[in-house]
Amino acid sequence: MPAVVIVGAQWGDEGKGKIVDIFTEHADMVVRFGGGPNAGHTLVVGNDKIIVRLVPSGILRPNTTCVLAQGMVIDPTSLVTELGELERRGVTTRTRTEERLVVSDRAHAILPYHVLVDGLREQGNGAIGTTKRGVGPCYEDKVARRGIPLGALRDPARLKSLVGRALENWAPTIRALGGNVPSCAEILEAIEPVRSRVAAMLADTQALVERAVREKNRVVLEGAQGTLLDIDHGTYPFVTSSSPTAGGACIGSGIGPTRINEVVGLVKAYTTRVGGGPFPTELHDEIGERIRQVGAEFGSVTGRPRRTGWLDLPALRYAVRVNGLGGLAITKLDVLTGLGEIKVCVAYDTPGGNRTSVLPIDELDRAVPIYKTFRGWDKELGSARAMNDLPIEAREYLHFIESEVDCSALLVSVGSRREETIVLRNPFD
Ligand code: IMP
Repeated sequence: MPAVVIVGAQWGDEGKGKIVDIFTEHADMVVRFGGGPNAGHTLVVGNDKIIVRLVPSGILRPNTTCVLAQGMVIDPTSLVTELGELERRGVTTRTRTEERLVVSDRAHAILPYHVLVDGLREQGNGAIGTTKRGVGPCYEDKVARRGIPLGALRDPARLKSLVGRALENWAPTIRALGGNVPSCAEILEAIEPVRSRVAAMLADTQALVERAVREKNRVVLEGAQGTLLDIDHGTYPFVTSSSPTAGGACIGSGIGPTRINEVVGLVKAYTTRVGGGPFPTELHDEIGERIRQVGAEFGSVTGRPRRTGWLDLPALRYAVRVNGLGGLAITKLDVLTGLGEIKVCVAYDTPGGNRTSVLPIDELDRAVPIYKTFRGWDKELGSARAMNDLPIEAREYLHFIESEVDCSALLVSVGSRREETIVLRNPFD
C-alpha cells in the first residue's frame, strides 16, 4: 500500500513543488485532493518556467498519471489555459487516445460569478487576503448543496439549469457588494470553448485512485496550502475553505485511512504567511526583508510579498499532531545562511499568563512567543548531500527541531535545484 500523503505543515508555500517532484520520480500516480487555483508552483520546462495552479508537476513525467480528485474546486478555463501553456512548450498532456490528466466528475466547478464574489468581498471590510480565485464562494456552493459538479459539463441542459439556479442565489449578494450580475448566457458562453476538453478528462477518480493503491502502485497524494490554513484546524477565520491536512487526503481522494502508509510534512526552516491573520513570529525588520529577498518569498499566484518570520515549534508540533506526521521535509535551510543568529519559537505566554509549549491557536493574536537563539553559519549549503556536509550550527538547528517536535527529517532541502537536497529516507520504502 505505497500511498504517501504530502502536506504543508505551516501556512502553505513550504516548497511543495520541488519536494513533490523528488518524491514522484518513481510514482505511478500523483493526486491533488483539495483546494484549487489558489495553489501555485513553478514548473521548469527546458529553459522556460511555467507557473501552474491546478496541474500537478507529475505531468512532466510521461509515465505518471495525474489526478485532480473530487475534493478540489476547478476553474475549467484556468485548467485548459494551463494545459495549453504546457502543450505550447512541448509537454504531452494527451496522447492520441487519452488525456494524461484525469479529473473527477464530482470536483466542483469554479465559474466566473465565484471569482467575481471573491474579488468584491476582498474590496470590503471583511477581506482576509484571499487569492481571489473564487475558491471560497465555490466551496460555499458545494456545502450549501447548490454547487456544480464538473460532470454537469457533459450535459448542456443540466449545466444551464444549474448555472441559472446558482445565479439566482448569488444575484442579491453580487448587487449588495456593488457588482453587476452576469447573465446565464454569459456564463455558458464563457464555458463553451473549454467544455468538451474538460468533459473528455472527466472520470470517477475515486475508483481509479483506489485501484492504483490496491494494485500496489506508488501513489502520491499531494496537498495544497498548509495545516494552519485548514478550515477546521487552521487559524480560523483566516483560512482557506478546504482541508489541506492529512485527513483531507482521504476525504478529497476517496480512499480510506488504512490505505495510507506515510504522511510527510513540509516545513520551511523559517515561516511565511500570505494574506491576513495572526503570525506571532513575524519579523518586521531587515532580517524579515532579507529572508523575503533571499528566499524569493513572493506569491506565485498573486505576486504578493509574503510575510516572513522565525520558525514556530509549537505550530510545527501542532502540525505533527493534526496530520500524524511520520517524517519532515525541511526546506530552504540555505536561506538562513549568513544570519549571525537564528531564533526559533519554543513556547508561548498566553494572555491568561501561562507559559505553554502547545500552540494556543485560538489566542494566537495575543500570545507572546518565547525564543531560543541559535548560532548561525556562513558556509554556503548548496553542495551538501549528507548531514555531515552541513556546518555544525546547521546540524544543531535541525536536530533541535526534530527532537522538539518528536518527528525526524527524511529530507533537507539546501537550494532550489533538484540535486540541492539531502535525502535521508525515501517515504515509499
Ligand atoms: P483562498 O484560498 O483564496 O480563499 O484564500 C484564503 C487564505 O488562504 C488567504 O490567506 C490566502 O493567502 C491563503 N492561501 C490560499 N492558498 C494558498 C497557498 O497556496 N499558499 C499560501 N497561502 C494560501
